[in-house]
Amino acid sequence: MKKKRIIVTGCCGFIGFSLSKKLLMNKNIEVIGIDTINDYYDVNLKKQRLKLLKNNKNFLFRKIDIGNFNLLKKVFVNGKINIVYNFAAQAGVQYSIKNPKKYMISNCVGFFNILELSRLNGIRNIFYASSSSVYGDSKKFPVKENFELKPKNFYGFSKKANEEMADIYSRYYDMKIIGLRFFTVFGPWGRPDLVISKLIESFYSKKVFYLNNFGKHTRDFTYIDDVINIILNLSKNVKLVKKNDIFNICGSKPVSLLYLVKLFEQKVGKAKIKKRVFQKGDILKSYGSNEKLKRVLNETKFTNFDEGFLRTFNWYKKYNKIKNN
Ligand SMILES: NC(=O)c1ccc[n+]([C@@H]2O[C@H](COP(=O)([O-])OP(=O)(O)OC[C@H]3O[C@@H](n4cnc5c(N)ncnc54)[C@H](O)[C@@H]3O)[C@@H](O)[C@H]2O)c1
Repeated sequence: MKKKRIIVTGCCGFIGFSLSKKLLMNKNIEVIGIDTINDYYDVNLKKQRLKLLKNNKNFLFRKIDIGNFNLLKKVFVNGKINIVYNFAAQAGVQYSIKNPKKYMISNCVGFFNILELSRLNGIRNIFYASSSSVYGDSKKFPVKENFELKPKNFYGFSKKANEEMADIYSRYYDMKIIGLRFFTVFGPWGRPDLVISKLIESFYSKKVFYLNNFGKHTRDFTYIDDVINIILNLSKNVKLVKKNDIFNICGSKPVSLLYLVKLFEQKVGKAKIKKRVFQKGDILKSYGSNEKLKRVLNETKFTNFDEGFLRTFNWYKKYNKIKNN
């Protein structure tokens, strides 16, 4: 049987790694992983993820910046590719306020390169990461895919620009380009710059954890295994989705950061919490509707937040030992 070849960009990042790991469980799939391994957060965590992927003989790594068309081209022209998952991007809201150029190159130019090289090489199926940040501070909840988009920062703008590029490409060329609006993904191997990891890390390092907006922010936390199952199910059912479709990827059960801290103190211990005011660019509330997703994939299940938190914490305890050895 001929193996399927799949490109996953951002394979050393949280979501790209988790997807690559799952794809590689199928012996009939080869994954070509692309990443620059940038230093936005702990490079060692990215290297540990990469080490795991490299244990599989069906994984091939290319250290390439997707913003560089000519380098990226070499991967695309080298044999038939079945699907591209674009999860390489400069992530983070706060960071985009000081570093908009990085978002322009990785998220806008990088995504354009992915679309253009896919078009030139006859690749028909593309999945890409958008974000709940495209909605900005909505007044109506839960936010639905057809709501007006009003990003509040350059990060959100870059994702909105991706969605518009995808729309044009899917209209003019015979390509299916599916946008995934992720809502705060968490779980084992998660991003250290996101709130759950920050809380756990501050507890271990006995440092202060800053609770922005006095803990009144709410987040539609979505567990990584659920996200990966959704991506794989959408990929299997690609015939059921439109040429340029967009889905909220969320559990639709937001919790406040105060709840997170309370849960942490119940299950783990007392953290050094310092409450502070709202930080510029922050979104007050994220709460998405997953009705559209459930209409296409009627078997979608979501992990309960408390359970997901415990699994994340247990992973962190193990990882902390590896990290410090
Ligand atoms: N994790 C979340 O909660 C969340 C929420 C909304 C949207 N997203 C989006 O999902 C995608 C994946 O997020 P993540 O949490 O895995 O982030 P991540 O930062 O862990 O992973 C992104 C990876 O892309 C790589 N990268 C960055 N710029 C690159 C470039 N120009 N060329 C090649 N590689 C590059 C980074 O080194 C990193 O390993 C991103 O587009 C992010 O904006 C994530």
